[in-house]
Amino acid sequence: MGGVLQRQKSEDFSQRTTRQKVVPSASDTEQFFHFTSSETTSRNMSVVGIDLGNQSSYIATARAGGIEMILNDYSMRDTPTYVAFTSKSRSIGVAARNNLIANLNSTIFNLKRLLGRDFQDPFVQRELKYLPFTLQEAPDGGIGIKVSYLGKDQWFNPEQVCAMFLGKLKEISEADLKVTVTDCVISVPIYYTDVERRALLAAAQIAGLNVLKLMNDTTAVALSYGLYATDLPDADQPPRTVVFLDVGYATTQLVAASFNRGKLKVLATAVDPHLGGRDLDYALVEHFAKEFKDKYKIDVLGSKRATIRLRDECEKLKKLMSSIANEIPLNIECFMNDKDVSGRLKREDFENLVPDYFQRTEQKIRELLDALKDVKVDRVEVIGGGIRIPAIKALVKKVFAMEPATSLNSDEAVARGCAIQCAILSPTLKVKEFSVTDVCPYGIELRWPQTGSSPAGALEVFPRNHASPFSKIVTLNRSEPFTLEASYAANQNIPINALWIGTFKINDVKPSLGETSAKVRIKSRVGLNGLFSLTNAYREEIVMVEEDAAAVQIQPMEVDEQTPKTDGPVGVERSDSTTMDVDQPTSGGTASSPEKAKTKRQAKQIELKIDSEFPEYPQQKVQEFIEQENEMRSQDRAEKEKADSRNALEEYIYEIRGKIGGDYSDYVTETDREKLSALLTQAEDWLYSDGEDQAKSVYSEKLKNLQAHGQPIAFRYRDAQERPALFQEMAHYMQMTRKAADAYRAGEEKYSHLESKDVEQMMKTLDEKQRWLDEKMNSQAKKSQHEDPVVSVADLKKEKTALEKTVNAVLNKPKPKPTPKKAEPPKQETKTKQDGDVNQNNGENANEDVSMDNQD
Ligand SMILES: Nc1ncnc2c1ncn2[C@@H]1O[C@H](COP(=O)(O)OP(=O)(O)OP(=O)(O)O)[C@@H](O)[C@H]1O
Ligand SMILES: [Mg+2]
Repeated sequence: MGGVLQRQKSEDFSQRTTRQKVVPSASDTEQFFHFTSSETTSRNMSVVGIDLGNQSSYIATARAGGIEMILNDYSMRDTPTYVAFTSKSRSIGVAARNNLIANLNSTIFNLKRLLGRDFQDPFVQRELKYLPFTLQEAPDGGIGIKVSYLGKDQWFNPEQVCAMFLGKLKEISEADLKVTVTDCVISVPIYYTDVERRALLAAAQIAGLNVLKLMNDTTAVALSYGLYATDLPDADQPPRTVVFLDVGYATTQLVAASFNRGKLKVLATAVDPHLGGRDLDYALVEHFAKEFKDKYKIDVLGSKRATIRLRDECEKLKKLMSSIANEIPLNIECFMNDKDVSGRLKREDFENLVPDYFQRTEQKIRELLDALKDVKVDRVEVIGGGIRIPAIKALVKKVFAMEPATSLNSDEAVARGCAIQCAILSPTLKVKEFSVTDVCPYGIELRWPQTGSSPAGALEVFPRNHASPFSKIVTLNRSEPFTLEASYAANQNIPINALWIGTFKINDVKPSLGETSAKVRIKSRVGLNGLFSLTNAYREEIVMVEEDAAAVQIQPMEVDEQTPKTDGPVGVERSDSTTMDVDQPTSGGTASSPEKAKTKRQAKQIELKIDSEFPEYPQQKVQEFIEQENEMRSQDRAEKEKADSRNALEEYIYEIRGKIGGDYSDYVTETDREKLSALLTQAEDWLYSDGEDQAKSVYSEKLKNLQAHGQPIAFRYRDAQERPALFQEMAHYMQMTRKAADAYRAGEEKYSHLESKDVEQMMKTLDEKQRWLDEKMNSQAKKSQHEDPVVSVADLKKEKTALEKTVNAVLNKPKPKPTPKKAEPPKQETKTKQDGDVNQNNGENANEDVSMDNQD
């Protein structure tokens, strides 16, 4: 347990760049997705977007033709974000949610709010009151979640439990798509800091998923809107500004984005991580808890179980109140102390209970509008479960002075946007080109301590709402190695102990030739996942070159290759235009003073090693968790197989008991029926006592024993259904064969090529089979149904096939091909044509059935 998020050294900054996509033809307005060649398709098939919600999660996939939602094992589109532990196995998703009340201490939810955080983080402390399970501080300051699993107390951390849930989503997707799912895009709340993003990436890695991008919830929604909006202004026209409001379970998020055809640019965001549907549920819980205290003298809030039961009922009531304005009853049977409780509430009174909720929502909307300054909002789209509340819609209408639009699927828009983004990033599909420029949700600062004569300093390298992904180059004059510390700017609602992003030591710095310092250029980047990094650093070295020698160019530091000249998905501030010179240049100048005698100074770039330290999951821990996960999966599988074989036994008991009293009743003797009934009762009693929890093989063995009694009866019944028709078919076939033999003997033309000895041999076999069949039919007629048949249906079929083979070999023998010879008149040929031989066979179909129908 625990020991998870710790500072880890790494120099590996893998860069991702936005891929160029194939633009579909102008006529192609609806079909955005096309499969690429089978070669790339087979290399990487999964195109999956995951909306990891606090309450429920959705999976969408992009297929040629569009985005589709993936249904889970209960054929539902939403999978509750719940993981439960029991004495035998884990259950995840719907099953875990359904059993919440019975397994309160070991059913884990609200995972998204715990990832990557310290136990003492005020955010986590604020969560505790909502969680019926036990959280504790881990030795490294992280979170330990206590559950009872496999009969003992065990501790897991949030990332591990989240990995279990993501693993379930992977399994659900694989069952639907019938391919291994690895590549995906997962949504994150805008407020996630680097440490939370890294924790989620680690969880995905443990689950065996390869995250192509962590996408901000609201940006996914904006993409979902933009890709399908057919009437966006052209690139040279003023953009359309749309505000998206997502009222979720625990979070309210807002984003404003500008759209032109083929691109979206996020302008500003506003988020309240502690405002969502859950707050309304708990406001109702408090209201009814107080009422029930007076009315029934029960202390609801003193019991976790009662609180969660009431919460679930209040949530149902809240949802009903969204569509019904009149008073609605709330009833819970056997609630506490065996008491049934009931209350009533109407929408208006409910709204008066939670004025603060609506004020805070309005405050967030206004914060977004302030950030937008003078930008005119053209449209407001609302999503998330909470926007079904009429007062929220009314509020949006009031503040924006326009009707909120609901053109997006309120529950699925995030997953759909993620799937579109996955399609854009994956080589599996060609996608209509659509560029997405997101923003940094928090301002990011770089600080450096004093080194030598260089003073300490700080710089806000990415202000809040700065475009992202983005690279910037920072230039410092330094004479020796130094350290940069990256952190979130203060006063942004991030706990003080969670501000740190990373520490970066820039090595190998020394003054340039003849100077007291060197110009050090450092590339900083906020990447696709929203993570900050310093990707590389160079110092400029001044070298003396002969004047007529080939000029040594200062190569600009390599930045994103697909930097658009103007506006675009990935921006760069190049060193020559927007360098942030934070130190004054040292005296003596740098590059241009001419030297004497045909030499001059020129600068070249020397790469500097960066030692990075940031809060990443240690790979060794990830590997350990992957192994643990594999073990738990085998345990789950074994448990499922055991349950399946127990169910098979149970089902057989009920099925065969019903049948021996019904369909099978004539096919079993009274004595055997009684004997089998007794065995079934015995097995049933065992199943609900000692047989509750046995090894898979024990159930299979019991089933085999019962089947040994039941199968002969079932066999007699099934054979009796088929046998009469089969007897008839065989008799008819024999009769037809005899007719064909008679026709041959009568000299019929179509059999004229047959040899007499073959026909006689065939008839001998037929006579034998006829005697066999007559004897079987006679004996069978004397048998009663509960006796075993004289011949099985299987044997009858074998006999029939063998006879048909013998007959076909003779009667379907191909006629020799006529060989037209000059000497012979074509008499025979003409006759054959006139006869219209139905059995004419050129030898290729020698095994075809003989056609005897036209001989009747
Ligand atoms: N008809 C309704 N009326 C009122 N609230 C509703 C209605 N339907 C759903 N909700 C609420 O919406 C919330 C769930 O919304 P949503 O599914 O968007 O959340 P989530 O994506 O799981 O959470 P988050 O976005 O915080 O991660 C719950 O609080 C639920 O009670
Ligand atoms: Mg959501």
